[in-house]
Amino acid sequence: MQSDILDLLSAKHADADDLFDRLADAPASRRGELFFELMDNLAIQACIEEKLVFPRVADYGITKMLDDSARAHAAIKTSMTDMLALDPRIDGEEFEALLYLLRRQVAGHVANDEERVLFPALRQLLSDETRAELAREARAMLEPAALAA
Ligand SMILES: [Fe+2]
Repeated sequence: MQSDILDLLSAKHADADDLFDRLADAPASRRGELFFELMDNLAIQACIEEKLVFPRVADYGITKMLDDSARAHAAIKTSMTDMLALDPRIDGEEFEALLYLLRRQVAGHVANDEERVLFPALRQLLSDETRAELAREARAMLEPAALAA
């Protein structure tokens, strides 16, 4: 498990990319499971970024970068909501069209907003210690024990 929040988020980005690939190749019987895994991954990424990371840098003069990411998250969530209304096993064409759109949205957001712009800025703005602390907080948020607290 990564001890730096930006590495942790980059690993989640790579996992999402992998899930999109696996979903494209999966037989009908596996698609539902992979689709929900993808929905969880995208929800978790957005949650860690919006609830833990962005508030920590809200006063650092990078409002536009944070707004761009938040806007992209909102668009991605809208697509996710549309997709959740469909059954990935039977809604063939509509599901495929939305999956294609979602993949483009996610890939564009990850590459253009985050990996190229926001994350390099965060690496400068946040100390190694703070990035490690945020990674610990993210893991605590993801562990089942956190649900009972
Ligand atoms: Fe994001």
